Parts: sequence; structure tokens; C-alpha cells
Amino acid sequence: MNPSARNILVTSALPYANGPIHIGHLVEYIQTDIWVRFQKMRGHRCIYVCADDAHGTPIMLRARQDGIEPEELIARVAREHQADFAEFNVDFENYHSTHSEENRFYSNTIYERNRDKGHISNRVITQAYDPVENIFLPDRFIKGECPKCGAKDQYGDNCEVCGASYSPSELINPVSAVSGVTPEQRESEHFFFRLGDFDAMLKDWTRGGHLQEEVSNKLDEWFRAGLQEWDISRDAPYFGFEIPDQPGKYFYVWLDAPIGYMASFRNLCDRVEGLEFDEFWSRDSDAELYHFIGKDIIYFHALFWPAMLHGADYRTPTAIFAHGFLTVDGQKMSKSRGTFIKARTYLDHLDPEYLRYYFAAKLGSGVEDIDLNLEDFAARINSDLVGKVVNIASRCAGFIRKRFDGKLSEQISEPGLFEEFVNSGESIAGRYERREFSHAVREIMALADRANQYIDEKKPWVIAKQEDSDLELQAVCSMGINLFRVLIGYLRPILPATAAKSEAFLKVAPLTWETLATPLTDHEIAKFKPLMTRIEAAQIQAMVDASKEDLSAAEATGKPAGPLVDDPISDLVEYPDFARVDLRVARVIKADQVEGADKLLQLTLDLGGETRNVFAGIKSAYKPEDLEGRLTVMVANLAPRKMRFGVSEGMILAAGPGGKDIFMLSPDSGAKPGMRVK
Ligand code: 2FM
Ligand code: ZN
Repeated sequence: MNPSARNILVTSALPYANGPIHIGHLVEYIQTDIWVRFQKMRGHRCIYVCADDAHGTPIMLRARQDGIEPEELIARVAREHQADFAEFNVDFENYHSTHSEENRFYSNTIYERNRDKGHISNRVITQAYDPVENIFLPDRFIKGECPKCGAKDQYGDNCEVCGASYSPSELINPVSAVSGVTPEQRESEHFFFRLGDFDAMLKDWTRGGHLQEEVSNKLDEWFRAGLQEWDISRDAPYFGFEIPDQPGKYFYVWLDAPIGYMASFRNLCDRVEGLEFDEFWSRDSDAELYHFIGKDIIYFHALFWPAMLHGADYRTPTAIFAHGFLTVDGQKMSKSRGTFIKARTYLDHLDPEYLRYYFAAKLGSGVEDIDLNLEDFAARINSDLVGKVVNIASRCAGFIRKRFDGKLSEQISEPGLFEEFVNSGESIAGRYERREFSHAVREIMALADRANQYIDEKKPWVIAKQEDSDLELQAVCSMGINLFRVLIGYLRPILPATAAKSEAFLKVAPLTWETLATPLTDHEIAKFKPLMTRIEAAQIQAMVDASKEDLSAAEATGKPAGPLVDDPISDLVEYPDFARVDLRVARVIKADQVEGADKLLQLTLDLGGETRNVFAGIKSAYKPEDLEGRLTVMVANLAPRKMRFGVSEGMILAAGPGGKDIFMLSPDSGAKPGMRVK
């Protein structure tokens, strides 16, 4: 390895193990993967690790709802996440889990070292408690009316209508989003990380060139507000690690999540000869450590994380690279518009290389949001990649193959032009290094224009018809192929699959930055096969429609859309479970449209004295006014489910193929609301 080679460890944020990867997540994994592939092409040792973030209340409750152990849920999601990443060519050296022995070890170590230095305190706090589920409720699991504007159905920490922030105890008429009951206030002892102890260290660190400027500025605001103690413990039952000296108390998921970076790397070290954990994590390490994250989790990574590491005598990160969020067609991703696109749904319709390229063409080094404009997406791929880059090879390859047995000329005919391409390499490399990918793409596309201009000027298709023109034809086409090779080399971090196909076509070893400077001469290439096809508008439409279908399945079942819904095995129900379903006659007292929902109606049902609120995906078949007063059958003992529009307290039974043909009404034959249906 070259003596100036750097040792670099890179991470992306760990995705939660209770939901699918979507295109919003992919901005980060693609950004990181491009950067890592670039570093490798430059000859550096660059190791990219990740893991599933497997702990916490939402994962525990999701498993409980599905009637499985959390371990089963996280194992299934881990498989799905890794399959998605692999197909997007996100090339982790290791993918692990925070629910692992390595992570338990480093979580305990970091906690104990901080505790022994006095950085952990404890006190009794009062918290909302769900007496039906027997759990303390995180803020996001308490709903009620906003104390500022009165909006209904708002979460315990902030109001989506007026934007106010508050504490859950201020909510009016609070209810547990899990069971629907009013929470109690209960006391419990909690443990706190004394972030304030690190005030001076953090002020130095955050101004020490480890953060983007806009992030440092944000941190200044937080410093001015004062660093608060951080509650790092949760009470049982909790899916996580028990705190070593505190039975019944667990580490809060955000304590052990970033430690998952270490755990994943440690797991890799245990399998790879010569890879030493301490070389990367000890305080005197000269390896580089970078965390790519979304701008929403800066507080955890730029304050808690370096402080925890410092307190435990580990090194701190070289830099944190935060990015913005993804919008689609200028708006937040939306399930009803079909723009909340899961990685899997995308893969069912489109080539991952397209999205990698489009994100690269949009990404900069800052924290601005990026927009995926679906029309521009297709236009850009078709014009840049298919129309410009791939076209260079297809315009030249046929002649080389047919007229010269696949052999390139002995010398390149335009060394000046070739040199121009090679000389751009350092500037493009600088763009990659600084994560200015959109600039890198612009520079590469300017070269692609130059290559096409060269071919347009030389017109090999005209030369081919002239007599005694063999040498010239071979020279021009060989030049074109050489320019194509340099371009593909520059695009390789972004388009790994296209680069691999191009390397096979060129019959060359994997391209590195260094090898690009030497032209391919007197060298046989393979038969050209199309490297990439155009995107058709119909493919995008099909993907958007499929994303809407994902939602209708979710609305009808009340479950969030996700791979877990589609799993045929877990959908098999044994008879004893089926017998537990309590079917009751219910009368529709009121039916309302649900603003923003394409398929749902909101039903108020009388269950013989008891009233239930149910969301049902029946809008295509019924007008609300036709339902009022009618009888139906409902599942009365289904645990309440939090949906986007409110809590659904049961399900109505309906049959039919969908659309106008959904049948849910029972004849009014004297059945009384609340009667059991057998
Ligand atoms: O925000 C999230 O999705 C978290 N699961 C990210 C964790 S990053 C790291 F700290 F583990
Ligand atoms: Zn409000």
C-alpha cells in the first residue's frame, strides 16, 4: 500500500430496526458510499461500517403488536435492510446490530468509565405511565390537545398544527397512544450523563474544524442555552441493555446507538487478520474517523457522542458530516401522493444507478435539503448518462470490434485532449474529497460534452465510408474509447455497476485514479453491450402508483406500510388466535371524510353504549351520509392503533375486490349494537 495511504473509518447513521429503508434514508447511504468508494480508488484504506439500531420502546411495542419477540423482529428487518443496501450497491465492510455482545461490552465500558469519573448522576423523576400496558411512555407515545392552540391528537412534545413545543404534562386530555387510556404520573429513579462537565472540551472541539460551519453556529446557540444533563436510563420493560450496576434500569437507546459504530467495527476486527480496534479508537490513534448523519441528529453526534468518548478515554471523531433531508417534487415525502418510496418499491421499477447519479448530481457539502424532482430525474439520466456518457462508447465500439478485431490503436492520436481529461482528475478528486459531488458531476459532464464534440467533429461514421481510412478510423474510435474510460473512472464512485460493466467491456482491472493517467493502447476490448437504458415516464408512474398501493394496504389494516405486512408466513393465524377475535355488531353513528387521506373514512361506531373511533379504507365504495345509522360488524378487541390521522379503535369487516365493490353493511334484521357475532 502506498506510504501516504490514509487509514479511514466511516459510518452512516444506524437505521431503526422496525421499518423499511426508503429513498430518504438512501441519500445518506449513497452519499457515504460514494465518498468511501472514492477514497478506495485513491489508494487509501477506507472501512465503512454500519448496523441496525435495534433497541428502544417503538421496537419493543412493534414486536408486541406483531406477537413476536423483539429478537425475531430485528432479525427479519436486518435481512431486509441488508438486501436493500446490497442492491443499491452500498458496500459496507460490515453490517452489525446494536443488539450484540460487542455493543453491550462497549456500552458498559463507556458508562462505567464515565461513572467512575463522576460524570453520571441520579435522581427521581416523574413520568407518564400507561397502567394498561405497564410501561413508562416516551413523549411520542402520548397524545392530546395542544396546550397552545387546542388542536386535537397532537404528540407529547410538539404540535404539528401551531408548531409549539411543550412537555407532555402540559397536554390537555392526554391519552396513551398505545392503549388509549389516560396516563398516570409515576416516580422512578433515572441516571443522567452530566454533559455540562464537558462544556469546555466541547466548546474547543466544536470549533476545532470537526464540523461544518453552519453546524458549529447551531451549536453555539445550544451552548448559549446551557448544556443540560442527559437522561440515559429507562425503566423495565425495555428492549435494550440493562445498566450493569442498576438492575431493572436500561440504557436509553440513544446511549448505545452510536456505540454501535464501535461494536460493528469490533465485530469486523474479530474476523479480519491485521485489523486492530485500538489503531482506530484509542486516544492517540492517527486514523481518521468520520460519521455521516442527517441534520436532525446533530445534537447526539456533535455533543453527547464526543463527550461520552472523551469521558471514557477514547478518541473523538475527525469530523461529522451532516446532510439535509430529501423532498420529492418540492414537498415532504407523502404516502398519499405516492412519493414516500421504499427502497424495495424503487428497486421493483428502476435501476439503482439512476438514483445514485441523481443524488450525486444534487449533493453538496452543506446541510441544505435536496429535491428529487421526478420529471427532472428522468430527463437528467436520459440526457447525461444515456445521451452523453454511454453514447461515447456505443458510437466508437462497433467500428473497433468489426473493423479491427476489437483492437485499439497503438498510440493515442490526440495526446493533448487526453491530457486535458487526465489533468481534470485532481480538481474532480478535490470535489469528491470535500463532498461537493454536484460540482464533481458538473466537471465530469463538461468533459463528456468535450468527448462528444470530438466525435462529432471527427465523424467516424463518415471516415468509415472513405477508402484507405482504416488507420484514421481506428485512431478516432480508440481516442473516443479512451476518453470514455477516463470518464467512467471519474464516475466510478457514483456508478459502481456501470463501471464494472465498462471494465468488462474494456477488459481492464478495476479502475483506480492512478491508472487513469495511462491510456489504453494496442489493447483488445470486448463486444459492446448496452450499459444503461433510458428511463421511461411509465416506469416512474408505476413506482409512484405502487407506493400508493403500499399505503392502501396499510390504511386498510391500520398497520404502517412495510415489509412486515407482506410477509406471508407471519400472516398465518392458528385457530386459537382466530377464536380470540371478538366480532360485534356495531351501528355507524357518524361517518366523516378524513382530510388528506385518499382511501379512508372516519367512523364513529356505537357498540351498545360504548363508542369507538375507527378509520376504514372504504371511501371508494361509500358516501359518508349513506352509512350513518346502518349496521356493520367490527373486530371489537383489536388493540388501538395510532395512524397518521388519529387512533383507530378497532376494524370493520368488509369483503370485495375493492374500488366500488367493498361490502361492509349488515342487514338491519333486529341485531343490536354490541351483540356478539358467532
Ligand atoms: O435517527 C435514527 O434513525 C437513529 N436510528 C440513528 C442512530 S445513529 C447512531 F447514533 F447510531
Ligand atoms: Zn398547537
